[in-house]
Amino acid sequence: MQSSRLQSKISRMPYDAHLQQLDTLLVETRPLWQPEPFKKERPDWVEQYPELAQALLELDEESLDAYATDNDALIAFVSTFIPELSAIASLVMLPETAKRKNETIAPRLHAGIPGRKWLQISALYASLQNPQRAITEWCGGKGYLGRLLSRQWQQRVTTLENSPQLVEAGARLADKYRVDQYFKLVDVLHDPVCKYLNNHHTIALHACGDLHRQLVTRIIESGAPSFTLVPCCYHLGREQEYSPFTDGLKLKLSREVLRLAVNETVTAHHNEIGQRNRDMAWKLGFQQLWQELCGSSEYHSFKPVPKAWVHEGFKGYCQKLAQREGLSLPADVDWEKWEANGEQRQHEVMRLQLLRQCFKRVLELWLIMDMAASLEANGYKVSVHEFCNRELTPRNIIIEGHSSPDLS
Ligand SMILES: C[S@@+](CC[C@H](N)C(=O)[O-])C[C@H]1O[C@@H](n2cnc3c(N)ncnc32)[C@H](O)[C@@H]1O
Repeated sequence: MQSSRLQSKISRMPYDAHLQQLDTLLVETRPLWQPEPFKKERPDWVEQYPELAQALLELDEESLDAYATDNDALIAFVSTFIPELSAIASLVMLPETAKRKNETIAPRLHAGIPGRKWLQISALYASLQNPQRAITEWCGGKGYLGRLLSRQWQQRVTTLENSPQLVEAGARLADKYRVDQYFKLVDVLHDPVCKYLNNHHTIALHACGDLHRQLVTRIIESGAPSFTLVPCCYHLGREQEYSPFTDGLKLKLSREVLRLAVNETVTAHHNEIGQRNRDMAWKLGFQQLWQELCGSSEYHSFKPVPKAWVHEGFKGYCQKLAQREGLSLPADVDWEKWEANGEQRQHEVMRLQLLRQCFKRVLELWLIMDMAASLEANGYKVSVHEFCNRELTPRNIIIEGHSSPDLS
């Protein structure tokens, strides 16, 4: 638990200064987080930190699970081998939002909303202040959040969404529950949107990749008075390279690398973890077979494997994959051996990749602070918080802001 002294120090820290610290850390430590043990059996850092590699490889299943789900404990563990990494703990700390309690919400406002989604929406709602103006819900799906805000705050909500089915379903629900909510079939990446941002409080819950980046651009362009943004899926977007909002950053990122920021196991169910482990072991088993037959030690990248192929058993899975990838298989493949090799590699990958995992929140915060610093530089008073614990949703960071003359 962070001390309140440290918490208030961080919440006062200008976001640009925080961004520069994250940028320096990520650039200096790139050799530790960039190589993927899935693709490279022994990343170069293994030679530089053999004791860390050994300690990771020796972790039993229970410790592996504990470190995979508790980032603070993982950072503390890794820092005993690389002390400089202890700086991560304070760099990724964010204040939690103050929550309003005991507010009554009529059950019909969450009718039909899947359980976890409702918990996320209600946690977000409990940490929001009424902006006292009409609301635009950005990429709102069926407009569940907008429905709640409209009813609780007695504000008109305009929900922007590009799926005709969701717009239709949302409009039906708004009608049924008699809320002051209107749906607009809008592609926020291509259609003009400034009229929906001017004089509105814009709120985006889990707008993926380009959708939240577009909102930041449009807020600045339109001079929107206030906003609440909860980003997710940073890796989804049209560009192969990430273009920062802030000038002068040293870190250059491909979209592929952005996946690290969303690489989570905290919300995975037990059977999902079992399936993921088997998928990984089989892919690695096939990868090794491929390399052996091609006489190569280079990682060969494959298109995603259809889920149904796992029902074929390891041999059938590899045969289908080999056919798709144009690899001819000899008659005498020792399937048991390659399957066991895959399992061994999976065991090692899960452990060695824990070092990369220490950096996933650092990368996420770099992306968040890039947006926060840019909004600040454009005259917004910005605050960045966590609105719920990471088990409810790992994408639990809010960026809120209002234009400086706006005293709401
Ligand atoms: C991850 S969902 C979030 C939905 C909702 N905010 C929530 O939290 O339940 C992202 C939504 O963005 C919509 N979307 C995707 N691309 C869009 C675009 N170009 N313009 C408008 N909406 C878009 C999707 O249809 C989807 O409903």
